[in-house]
Amino acid sequence: MIWKLANPQLRDLAVYEPGKPIEETASKLGVHPDSIIKLASNENPLGASPKAIDAMRAALENAPLYPDGGSFYLREALATRLGFAPENIILGNGSNEVIEFLGHAFLHRGDDVITSEYAFIAYKLIATLFGACTIEARSPDYQQDLEAMLDAITPKTRVIFIANPNNPTGALTSQGKIDKFMSRLPENIIVVFDEAYFERSRRSEHRRSPHLFENPRTRRSADWLRHRALRLNRRAR
Ligand SMILES: Cc1ncc(COP(=O)(O)O)c(C=O)c1O
Repeated sequence: MIWKLANPQLRDLAVYEPGKPIEETASKLGVHPDSIIKLASNENPLGASPKAIDAMRAALENAPLYPDGGSFYLREALATRLGFAPENIILGNGSNEVIEFLGHAFLHRGDDVITSEYAFIAYKLIATLFGACTIEARSPDYQQDLEAMLDAITPKTRVIFIANPNNPTGALTSQGKIDKFMSRLPENIIVVFDEAYFERSRRSEHRRSPHLFENPRTRRSADWLRHRALRLNRRAR
């Protein structure tokens, strides 16, 4: 009965199955939990940073106070470090939550979202959540084809998601391709560069690209980015 009352698009969403707790897997395999290294969801087998543990302990002192949902000091610190204004930074409980915020901000029922074939699955899930339709541009050789994404634009397209690098394919899109893409992007479309794994990229030209504001070609794209594109990073791991 409750399903009938819920938003119909939710019925099409498969329930996410998180990985099993270490203890469950250990007991199933008959081994000690310490012998298992869990890596399925970006866990860090080296353990949490002692600095992070100290900061979390210190934060417990503030538990009686209502939490600062605006993350005032964290945004200030990130803004100083990254050279942006604090109002250009949004924080979420993981970047999945920020992707959902984008749905709240930009998507209506019946809109189109464009991404690549084999792109990170959350884009499609969030589009479905907001009643939008996902168009997946072809992805030859598992690379993201930005030209194909432009060709896929419809009058109903509101948001384009580009994971750079992509999960699960690892495909990395060059700054040159991004600049070309941005120069052809219609004014009314928001593009999201999801750089959740950017720091893992070993290719130096890609590692530098988000900060290459001094390069004339990139500065142009940086101007574009300020206006119509959003970068999604997950730095705090
Ligand atoms: C490309 C990409 N973006 C975003 C996320 C979501 O990350 P988080 O765990 O910070 O919500 C992931 C998680 O695997 C990802 O692969």
